Amino acid sequence: MTARDEPRSGEAPWWRDAVIYQIYVRSFADSGTRGVDGVGDLPGITSRLPYLRDLGVDAVWITPFYTSPQHDHGYDVADYRDIDPLFGTLADADTLVATAHDLDLRVIVDLVPNHTSDEHAWFRAALAAGPGSPERARYLFRDGRGPADAPGSEPPNNWQSVFGGPARTRVADGQWYLHLFYTTQPDRDWRNPEVGDMFADVLRFWLDRDVDGFRVDVAHGLYKEASLRDQVLDEDPATSEPKESMVARTLRDEPMWDQPEVHDVYRRWHEVLASYPGERMNVAEAWTQTPASMAKFVRPDEMSQAFNFSWLLADWSAQAFADVVTGTCEALADVGASPTWVLSNHDVIRHTTRYGGGPAGLARARAATLTMLALPGSSYLYQGEELGLEQVDVAPEDRQDPSWLRHRGATGEVGRDGCRVPIPWSGTSAPYGFGPGEGQPWIPQPADWASLTAQAQTGDDGSTLEFYRRALAARRGLPATTAESVRVDVDGDLLTITRAGLRVLLNCGESALPLPPGDVVVASGPVDGELPGWTAVWLTGQ
Ligand code: GLC
Repeated sequence: MTARDEPRSGEAPWWRDAVIYQIYVRSFADSGTRGVDGVGDLPGITSRLPYLRDLGVDAVWITPFYTSPQHDHGYDVADYRDIDPLFGTLADADTLVATAHDLDLRVIVDLVPNHTSDEHAWFRAALAAGPGSPERARYLFRDGRGPADAPGSEPPNNWQSVFGGPARTRVADGQWYLHLFYTTQPDRDWRNPEVGDMFADVLRFWLDRDVDGFRVDVAHGLYKEASLRDQVLDEDPATSEPKESMVARTLRDEPMWDQPEVHDVYRRWHEVLASYPGERMNVAEAWTQTPASMAKFVRPDEMSQAFNFSWLLADWSAQAFADVVTGTCEALADVGASPTWVLSNHDVIRHTTRYGGGPAGLARARAATLTMLALPGSSYLYQGEELGLEQVDVAPEDRQDPSWLRHRGATGEVGRDGCRVPIPWSGTSAPYGFGPGEGQPWIPQPADWASLTAQAQTGDDGSTLEFYRRALAARRGLPATTAESVRVDVDGDLLTITRAGLRVLLNCGESALPLPPGDVVVASGPVDGELPGWTAVWLTGQ
């Protein structure tokens, strides 16, 4: 047992109130030890861990680094127990975890149980073995529908892929397999017990390598309604694409999401995690419909946490933020779970840009972040938000996201490359210290990022990086609080959150408001006697 394995006496497990920093492995840091390829890697992450310790986070979540043909940049796993040569080796992963622990940082790895790559040994075996075989029964192969003169020529149901287009692809012998995402990401059949057994072993493989937890990809999708019935779709006749966005569709009741059987999987995983020393955890990526259905994933015998996407989806308004905080705290109090908060990740438009971009977008983003950091529970940060990065308008020829490649603009969606541009660390031109060499990394960086590098912002009190450092340091000094004890008030544009040791004021309007008496602990922008528009402040006293 190491000190990290011993329960913190009398304290809640570390993850209940942690700040967790998401690393998108391709875009964080390129060590150059894997060749100068403009792609981030594990040694690159290890070399930058001291920066994250100094930033003041508690843990890192690293997106998938397993063997993968990279059609969805690692979310298409060909071997769950090895590292893709692009990113390093198992020895590099061990070094990363050990170095993080030496720096008192925890490590969460990404688990992708819903689908494999089409290059996974099981899928290859399924193709080779043919219809009706036990190998096919690990995936969702079905015969097609179709008219009498062409039986089987149409997909067995009308399901749409999250990335656009049909969620079914036909193989040479005429059967169709299901892929809720890209054609190269076949969905497993979780009703087959072999699948669950295999995954319990994958969990143990990584727990034995001393990781602290798992982020569970598409956690609400593993089970499909057994009937595989058609989904209710509202298609645009011009494009044959659904009118609703991916998020809107996912949040609506559909036969492929949020089936009750999925909770048995998380009960089993709870036992696996509990059988290890230390406070191992998991967090669900579950685009569920309501706070109440999110709460089902974090019942006491299931997962530790679930991402609270309603915070990220909320409009910029005091009332909308208040409703999310209240709704979340109420729903989670019922099951005794701690809330989570997130504003950006590798799948959504960066929050600086969502809030309007430019100086106003940045001011709002900083204010929303400071509000989030005072809320009870854990906050998830996405790499680069501490630098105030905006969504990049990636040129069509440079886009690589499968959600773009599926339709190349036909639906107006540009894909997710704009939030995945490699991080600027130093210097005045690409690759801004992201890696060795002079050239552009795998997604080109903008020409005007010189003032946004970590190096340029360090020591500049007005910079976003120094603001994050101050806010995270102040958070460490806060007394513990619970979701039940938080009070939320709205007065026009002003949101006030009162928690143990602190009042948080967020001005969602453009005009300044009077600043009540109290001592300013930290503010998201200049505060001088009044609370300027789009600014948040932490106050003590009074
Ligand atoms: C999750 C990931 C996303 C990926 C998808 C398919 O939503 O966050 O990046 O494309 O799952 O694995």
